[in-house]
Parts: sequence; structure tokens; C-alpha cells
Amino acid sequence: MAHGPAKGIGRWLFTTNHKDIGTLYLWFSFAMFLLGGSFAMIIRAELFEPGMQIIRPEFFNQMTTMHGLVMVFGAIMPAFVGLANWMIPMMIGAPDMALPRMNNLSFWILPFAFALMASTLFMEGGAPNFGWTFYAPLSTTYAPPTVNYFIFAVHIMGASSIMGSINIIATVLNMRAPGMTLMKMPMFVWTWLITAFLLIAVMPVLAGAVTMMLMDINFGTSFFDAAGGGDPVLFQHVFWFFGHPEVYIIILPAFGVISHIIPTFSRKPLFGYSSMVYATASIAFLSFIVWAHHMFLVGMPIGGELYFMYATMLIAIPTAAKVFNWISTMFRGSMTFETPMLFAIAFVILFTIGGFTGVMVAIAPADVQYHDSYFVVAHFHYVMVAGAVFSGTAAVYYWLPKWCGRMYDESMAKMQFWISFVGFNVTFFPQHFLGLAGMPRRYADYALQFSDWNMVSSIGAFTYGASQLLFLFIVIRTIRSGTPVSEPKVWEGAEGLEWTLPTPVPYHTFSTPPEVK
Ligand code: CU
Repeated sequence: MAHGPAKGIGRWLFTTNHKDIGTLYLWFSFAMFLLGGSFAMIIRAELFEPGMQIIRPEFFNQMTTMHGLVMVFGAIMPAFVGLANWMIPMMIGAPDMALPRMNNLSFWILPFAFALMASTLFMEGGAPNFGWTFYAPLSTTYAPPTVNYFIFAVHIMGASSIMGSINIIATVLNMRAPGMTLMKMPMFVWTWLITAFLLIAVMPVLAGAVTMMLMDINFGTSFFDAAGGGDPVLFQHVFWFFGHPEVYIIILPAFGVISHIIPTFSRKPLFGYSSMVYATASIAFLSFIVWAHHMFLVGMPIGGELYFMYATMLIAIPTAAKVFNWISTMFRGSMTFETPMLFAIAFVILFTIGGFTGVMVAIAPADVQYHDSYFVVAHFHYVMVAGAVFSGTAAVYYWLPKWCGRMYDESMAKMQFWISFVGFNVTFFPQHFLGLAGMPRRYADYALQFSDWNMVSSIGAFTYGASQLLFLFIVIRTIRSGTPVSEPKVWEGAEGLEWTLPTPVPYHTFSTPPEVK
């Protein structure tokens, strides 16, 4: 646009500026977080008491499915792509992302995917009701007719993720400032580079799974239909070959964020930088060879069960190396406890709890008891919420002053931390007990003996939900009327080398984006 940058809505529709696109991703992801969160509130309201109170069981199934899909694909993944867009070019000294127009495209197809998926709630047959893992034959033979919209939406999300990943790889490999060698890159850049390769490897597998579903439903094939010579277990293999690395796609950039915040507020460089890089890479590699630990109950040969059990346990080693490094970074540092640090420390503690329960469910003979129970729900919410959402929140508090040139209200933010920390744990810790006592997941109702902990869990969920509204309020208030920081806010201490590099673009571009040639 030789005649200057677009104004108004056009600025956002046609933008090729990585900061604008990062902002779009972050706001979109927060909108999806509130949508997926409201589904969770409906679920917890129904489960507040035994018996059916406010919704039909059929609608409950739609809520659990949509909650998972919206949170994983709509809230968490775009949040970290948004952070990548904002931070990676600045961290490596690049003027923008390598492929700015594709960057625009990879964002703007996302709202269409989620509009398509959410619109199924109002269609004949209702929204997808087969769980976010959409196992066949529930998602094929017995699926509502709206499953085709779901398939199309998944394809669009996959295309968006692949384009985003190509962009990140091209940027990191080609556009680093002179002197910024790979082993000098900030950890967030490293974790995203590895995550981008994971995404490119597994999103096509997801696309293959939904395409096979599409063929089975509409074109008479029987990939997953035993009556036609297919096998429903094939679906689980294909899905989890995508699904397990997906967990690490979500958590690796979170590791990157934490590896910035802890050194800053400990006033020490990150302990064991190169071991962090290698641990990240080995977690990524191992994530490809453990997928059937989600399928211990399908009737695998005992050799298969043993292999997937031990391979899964191996992941604990590089993960523990990371936790060790974070703790060693804090050890004897001059620590202070501003909000980003509080979220980062909570991340380390709670993610480690999720890691321990992960080792528990990895034990094949014990998993017979844990499988499809609330213990699993508690386990992966400790990994996903305390892992991805806490670190995403930490990142926003940490970088918001840098993004908009204004400082958030520290005491209000600390209050938001404590409400969400307590709310989260009150929600999900009791679900361990419920699962161990035998409460199955994904049911709209439960036996009387589960009443007490469900009530506690629901109260925690409403608290946690409210804390997110407070978070939204704090962010909007900061952008509109936070105390201006005359310099780009640089936290005092040993952040590493990224902020001392010459950065070719100014920090605050909320007012005028640089002209695109
Ligand atoms: Cu897994």
C-alpha cells in the first residue's frame, strides 16, 4: 500500500505488521477463552448437584466437546501464536515476520473456523457431542449431521497453524540479526522454533483423520467401520499420533515464557541454557513415540503396553531437567514477587503436580483404574490450565508494559493472581479424589457419594471464572489509562541479552503501524 497504512477497521483487516497480528491473535484467543470458559461454567453449574438441573444430558455432551475444542484450538494455541508474533521478531532483531501477508491470512481464517464451529450450536442436531477427541464410531456412524461443519473447521484451523509455523521457521532461520547465532537465541524463540516443527509434522495427521471421517460419513468408505473391513482403533492411533504432540505444542512455548520470567525476577541468567534447548528438543522427539499411552484399554499386546509405558516415563527426564534449571535459576537469586513471577512460580509448582499425575496415568496396569475417570480430567487440567493458561497470563503481565507503554496495577494484578490460584486449585484438586473414587468423566450426572467434592469443584470453577473477568478488566484499564512508562518497560535484572540488541522498530506501535512497502 504505497499510499500509506489503512485506517480504522482496514488497519486490522489488511495489516501485515507482526505486532498488529500478534494483538489480533491475543484478543481472539481471549474471546475464545471466555467462550470456552462459559461452556465450562455451564458444565460446573450442572454438576454442582447430583440429578439434572439446568440442561439436558445431550446438551451437556455438546458443552464438554465444545469446551475442549474451543480451549485447545481457539484459546491456547492462538494465544501462543500471538505471543510469537509479538516477541520473536523483536527478540532476534528482525524487522517483521518473514512472510507478512501469509501472517495476515493465517490469522483471519481463524475467526471463520470458529464461527463455523460455534454456529453448529444453533443448527438441527446440535453441536458436536462426541468429545474433543472425537473417537469413531461416535463421530462417524452416530454423529450429528453438523459433524461436517466441524470437519471443515478443523481443516481451516490446521491450515492456519501450518502457515503460522512456516512463518515462524522462516523468520527464525533467515532473519536473525548478525551475531544472533542459534545458541544465543532467547529461550522463547527456541521453544517456538521446535514447536513449529511439531505443528508442521502433526497437523496434517489431524487433517488426515478428519478427512477419513468425512469419507466414511459421506462417501461410503469404511476406514473406521468394522462392518466394511475398517477398524475404529485405527482412529485412536491416528488421532493420538496428532494428539500427544499437540500437548507439547501447547506446553513448549509456555516453557519458553517461564524461562524468561524466572531469570528476570531472580536477577540471574537462566541456569543451564543449552541443557534447556536440548531438553526441549528431546521432549519434542519423545512426544512422537508415546501416543498409545492414551489407548491402554483397547486391547494392545502386552509388549506394546510396556513399550508405551516406559517411553512415556522417559519424558519425565528432560522435563525434570527443566524444572531443575528453573529452581536453580531462583536459587540464591535476589528474588522479587511481582505478578508475572507469581504466575511463573505457580506454573512450576502446579505443572509439576500435573507431571507427577502424568507418570501415574502412564503406568499401564494402574491406568485401567484411572482411565476415563475424573483423575485424568484433573491431571490434564493441571497441565493445560496451570501450564498453558498460567504461563500465558504471566506473559501478558510481563510484556504488556512493553506492548502498550503502560504499566498495569500491581496490587490489583496480585489480587487476580491469588483469586485464580485458589480458584484453580479448589476446582481441580478435588477432581483427583473424585476420579480415584470412581467418578467417570463426560457424564451429565453422578452418584450421590460424589456430591460434596463436586460442589467444592463448582465453587472453585466460578471463582476461577470470575478471576478471568478481573484479568480482562486489568488489561483494558492498563491499555486505556495505565501509568505511562517513559522508556519501554525493561524489568531490572538479568533478562538475558535480547533487550540490549538494537531493535529496528519502535516498541509502541498501537498508534501508527509502520508503512508496508
Ligand atoms: Cu499423551
